[in-house]
Amino acid sequence: MGNDPTASPEMHDTLIRYPRFQELHEDIEMCKELSKSSGEPHCMSLEGPTGAGKTTMIQDYARQFARYETPEGIKIPILYMETPSPVTVKGLAMKMLEAMGDPAAHKGTQTSMDSRLVHFIQHCEIELVVLDDFQHLIDSETEKILAKVSNWLKVLIKETGVPFLVVGIEGKVELILKSNSQLSRLFAVREELQRFQWNPSTPETIQEFANFVQATEEVVGRKLPWRSDSDADLLYRLHYATDGVIANLMNLMRGTALLAQKQGRDKLDLDILAAVFEKRLAKHLYKKTNPFKKEWGERFTPPQELPTDQPNATTKRGAKGKKKKPSVAETLSTR
Ligand SMILES: Nc1ncnc2c1ncn2[C@@H]1O[C@H](COP(=O)(O)OP(=O)(O)OP(=O)(O)O)[C@@H](O)[C@H]1O
Ligand SMILES: [Mg+2]
Repeated sequence: MGNDPTASPEMHDTLIRYPRFQELHEDIEMCKELSKSSGEPHCMSLEGPTGAGKTTMIQDYARQFARYETPEGIKIPILYMETPSPVTVKGLAMKMLEAMGDPAAHKGTQTSMDSRLVHFIQHCEIELVVLDDFQHLIDSETEKILAKVSNWLKVLIKETGVPFLVVGIEGKVELILKSNSQLSRLFAVREELQRFQWNPSTPETIQEFANFVQATEEVVGRKLPWRSDSDADLLYRLHYATDGVIANLMNLMRGTALLAQKQGRDKLDLDILAAVFEKRLAKHLYKKTNPFKKEWGERFTPPQELPTDQPNATTKRGAKGKKKKPSVAETLSTR
């Protein structure tokens, strides 16, 4: 009964459940539990750049709470849905009814739809509603916030007492919430799912990216061409090539793995990375420089960056006279 996109059997085993992913699962759980125990809706927003993995993370969370049938009807612990575009109050109400499996989702006046919605949310014992692509509450032509829809949502949340998690593009969700102070008050928790950062003064950021890259190698079943003298350089090229965005990294890794397989090669060499970057990422990211075109030994420096900003990591490592191979983060803390 009803559409449940979180129930689709897509790539669960290829998911990388990295620390931020788990932290966000805990934040969502907390909102759900607090709302249950206090009887008040503790809502949360999540924003981030396109491809950061917001939908993937949420659908993975929702999958733990599958719908189930009971003699009294279907129970839906988590209702996940995408905000329609363009969105109207009626359109959103219809979509929610549809997602809950109401056979008469498209029928009736706004008032009757609203009362059915409240009834179904309670009857299906919904504990959390996820509204993905919440930025659709901003009209794409006029850039105006659809105040009627956000106000309707506020009333629905207050009336049902069920928490909402709204998810969307960075900056936009915050704008929508800010435009309605009562709605804003309901969303005390504001989280972000950012791209991986490359911040030399915080080596942990680089280590986090390194760990994720390592996990992608396992997912695609192929190793990157690491070399003890160029680990840091390769990692930096990968970050530049993908902007630290998961979707871009997965695209690059999956593409290179497939090409390597077709060519009967075990490793993802620089030439394959360069070819896949050119074909699958360069245009979307508006990048003119292909970071994989430089041979080993020629450290990659992005076009606008001054070489003095990035002292040579190898020299520094040598100067310390370490015998043990340093961690990637240690190596890169000088970049
Ligand atoms: N944790 C992960 N493990 C493996 N792959 C992931 C993960 N997160 C995201 N991806 C990959 O990145 C792609 C984009 O992720 P997703 O659709 O979740 O991004 P998004 O932040 O919702 O983007 P948008 O704002 O455009 O909707 C997915 O299709 C998947 O291939
Ligand atoms: Mg998404």
